[in-house]
Amino acid sequence: MKVLVTGARGQLGQTLLANAPPGWTLLGLDRPQLDISDAEQVRSRMELEPPDVIVNAAAYSAVDLAESNETDARQVNADGAQNLARAAHTVGARLIHLSTDFVFDGYATSPYTPDADTHPLGAYGRTKTEGEQHVREILPNHAVVLRTAWLYSEYGGNFVSTMLRLMAERNELMVVDDQVGSPTWARSVADAIFAFIARPDLAGTYHWTDAGQTSWYDFARVIQQEAFEVGLLDKTIDIRPVSSDEYQAAANRPAYSVLDCSSTATDLGLEQVSWQESLRAMLEASAGQ
Ligand SMILES: NC(=O)c1ccc[n+]([C@@H]2O[C@H](COP(=O)([O-])OP(=O)(O)OC[C@H]3O[C@@H](n4cnc5c(N)ncnc54)[C@H](OP(=O)(O)O)[C@@H]3O)[C@@H](O)[C@H]2O)c1
Repeated sequence: MKVLVTGARGQLGQTLLANAPPGWTLLGLDRPQLDISDAEQVRSRMELEPPDVIVNAAAYSAVDLAESNETDARQVNADGAQNLARAAHTVGARLIHLSTDFVFDGYATSPYTPDADTHPLGAYGRTKTEGEQHVREILPNHAVVLRTAWLYSEYGGNFVSTMLRLMAERNELMVVDDQVGSPTWARSVADAIFAFIARPDLAGTYHWTDAGQTSWYDFARVIQQEAFEVGLLDKTIDIRPVSSDEYQAAANRPAYSVLDCSSTATDLGLEQVSWQESLRAMLEASAGQ
């Protein structure tokens, strides 16, 4: 089984490559080796060495920057997805395409099911929604669109790594407390992706996150407590809640973006791990315990 991973230097890409099941060969390519926004490059690369499965972990993921660079975001998140879907169709490969909770507006009060109406609030979510649509249209029976949320890992910049840096540097921190979601370790998503690869009969839109929900503010408090306990921080600081309005990020974000993951759990026979358990495991691994 030949599996090609795009965006291989991103946090999910690195997590996939580091945790491939024994006996699997994953070929990881990042933008310098394969720019997914270049249709001709994508087509020729796939025809040169056709994979059985493509995992699209490449993305323009800078949510705030996307507001003033929507064309750039679209080239990766929408056109890139379209290029990969077309090439996969040509060579007969399956596509596992990653997407996001930001396709939703966050006005719901119960977890979003995979068939819930999308209504993104910003440029990043709009371009990711368009990418999903291309994938579903071109590969109705040979693609999985897998939405996840609030991703963090031991690789690259993410909320957990940023919090740990700021907690070490500063004496106090303000964190948004009016957005609720499910923090998710990239390892949990990688496990679901490997399970989807092993089930070629599955296609369609799915959700996968760690279990439970919290606000960024409460997530930050737990990160600090756990990181202090495992020795990644040698002090604790004051963390104060702020509203999204006070924080004034460039992009609007969904206030509530909990995803209903039950169809993935049922179809793959997987059980969600609580976000607290995943966070602890990731921090312990980072602390070398
Ligand atoms: N991060 C989250 O909280 C989150 C939440 C929900 C869903 N997701 C989704 O999960 C997936 C993985 O996200 P992530 O957090 O691992 O993202 P990431 O760390 O930002 O990684 C994305 C990777 O894609 C690469 N890339 C950008 N443009 C490219 C192009 N034109 N061709 C090829 N590669 C390109 C980036 O390279 P450069 O560094 O050179 O740009 C980077 O290595 C994405 O689909 C994302 O939308 C993420």
